[in-house]
Amino acid sequence: MKFFLDTANIEEIREGVSWGAVDGITTNPTLISKELKGEMNFRKLVTSILDLVKGPVSLEVTSLKHDEMIEEAKRLKKLGDNVVVKIPTTVEGLKALKILKEIGIETNATLVFSLSQALMVVKAGATYVSPFVGRLDDIGEDGMSLIEDIRTAYDNYGINAKIIVASIRHPVHVRESALIGADIVTMPFDVFKKLMSHPKTDEGLKRFLDDWDKIDRGKLRLE
Ligand code: E4P
Repeated sequence: MKFFLDTANIEEIREGVSWGAVDGITTNPTLISKELKGEMNFRKLVTSILDLVKGPVSLEVTSLKHDEMIEEAKRLKKLGDNVVVKIPTTVEGLKALKILKEIGIETNATLVFSLSQALMVVKAGATYVSPFVGRLDDIGEDGMSLIEDIRTAYDNYGINAKIIVASIRHPVHVRESALIGADIVTMPFDVFKKLMSHPKTDEGLKRFLDDWDKIDRGKLRLE
């Protein structure tokens, strides 16, 4: 399973990439808006992200009409070969997905909340599909059961679109995604950090080092 960071924050991306565990990035207009402070503008921000990340970087269109989405997608794609264009799961979005597939631009269908939507967007040609598990949990539904349904249906019909589990809130979402067989999880940096933390690791390391400190230094010379 691939790990994407769901952030547009350069420091988080730089740090995550240095850990060797970031396969790609997803952004959305909310995440981008948080980073455009002071001198920072959209082009500068995206260029910095693309300089750091070799894998897919999703950038979202903000138009609502399919022809405008397509024009926006073409402009975004010019920023980098690894740009994937995020398209909202609407009827206009379907029309855009179809044409973008025909002209060879990779897409990520975003704001997917049902199996029927997940089937429609791949029919139209989406490369990646992003079901939002946390936002389903927020309204009392079971986000992960949607991932199970999509995995089963895609496997039933040999559908190759990649499932990106989105709107991840905690490491349990990541664990369950891996057990279900999702292709990718995209998570905030905070969740990414938590994947590495375990109190027994900290406790064990402390005990090893405390015991090591008790040894007479003279006994530890290597030469
Ligand atoms: C996915 O690509 C979205 O950017 C994201 O996962 C939304 O998550 P949120 O519900 O935490 O805003």
